Amino acid sequence: MKISVIGAGNVGGLAAMRIAQDGLVEVCLIDIAKGLPCGKALDIEDSRALLKFDSPVLGTDDLVGLGGSDIVVITAGFPRKPGMTREDLLNKNAQVIKELCLGVKKYAPETILIIVTNPLDLMTRLALKITGFKANRVMGMGISLDAARFSNLIAEELNIFPQSVNAIVIGSHGEGMMPLVRLSTVGDAPLGKLIDAKKAEELINKTTGRGLEIVSLLGSGSAYFAPSAAISSLVKAIARDEKHIIGVSAYLNGEYGVKDVCIGVPCRLGADGIEQIIELDLDQEEKDTFVKSALRLQEQFSSIQ
Ligand code: LAC
Repeated sequence: MKISVIGAGNVGGLAAMRIAQDGLVEVCLIDIAKGLPCGKALDIEDSRALLKFDSPVLGTDDLVGLGGSDIVVITAGFPRKPGMTREDLLNKNAQVIKELCLGVKKYAPETILIIVTNPLDLMTRLALKITGFKANRVMGMGISLDAARFSNLIAEELNIFPQSVNAIVIGSHGEGMMPLVRLSTVGDAPLGKLIDAKKAEELINKTTGRGLEIVSLLGSGSAYFAPSAAISSLVKAIARDEKHIIGVSAYLNGEYGVKDVCIGVPCRLGADGIEQIIELDLDQEEKDTFVKSALRLQEQFSSIQ
C-alpha cells in the first residue's frame, strides 16, 4: 500500500504521522514548499524507533511522487482566518484543487481520493469533475469530524466515555451541517431521551461552531488534531477493507432525493472506497433541511470560476 498526503501543513503533516504510525506501509508527503515535506518526513521517521512502527515516509515537492498511490489525501489549500466561513475560501481553493487533481489524474489514475480542503463538499464535487474518476473513488472528509465533535460534546454533557456515543451528523461540512439528535444514540438509548430540547440545541450549535471556535482561539490556521484523526480513520477503513460505516461527502445520484451533488451522508467504506451509501430514515423536516442544503451546494458549485 502507498498512501500520499498532499499539503504538509498541520493537518497534512499530522495525518501523515498518524497513517505511518498505523503501519499502513509507505507514506508520501507532498507540498510545494520545498523543504517542508522533506523535513516533516524525516521528523516522522525519527519517531519510528520510539513509537515502534516501520512505515517509510518520503517527502517531496513534486507531484510525480504520487505515482503508485492507492489512496491520495488532499489537505492543501488556504485555511480559514478568524471570522471566515468555510465557504469564504471557495474560489481561492478551487484553483488549488483543480491543479492538484490534474496531477492526481496524471500520476495516480487508479487511486482513491480523499478531499479535506474547504469548502469541503464543493471541493469534493470539483475533484470528481476534474479527475473524471468514478464516484465511489472520490470522497470528502468533513462530517466524520463533525460527528466526533458532537460525540465529544455529548459525552462531556452526560459524563460518559465518548466512544459510548453514536453521534449522527449529515449534510454539508459548513453552513448546512445537520447534527441529528433524533437519530443519535448513547449506549442503546436515543439521545433525545437523555437531554431536553434546550440542551439539544446548545449541543448542536456548539458542534456546528466548533471549527470556527478553534480557528478563533488559534489565531491562525484551523484545527488539526481531530481532523487528522478523522483522516486516518477513513484511510484505515479503505486500506484495511473494513466495511466500516463512516460519514463522508459522497456524490449522490438520487439518494436522499437529490442528484449531482457531493454532501455528507453515512457510507460503507472498504477497498473500493464508497461501497454503499446508507439512506437514513429522515423525517419530513430533516429531509427538507437536507435538500435545501444540497440545493445551496449546487448553486455555489455553479458559481466556481
Ligand atoms: C474544521 C475544518 C477542518 O472543521 O473545516 O476544523
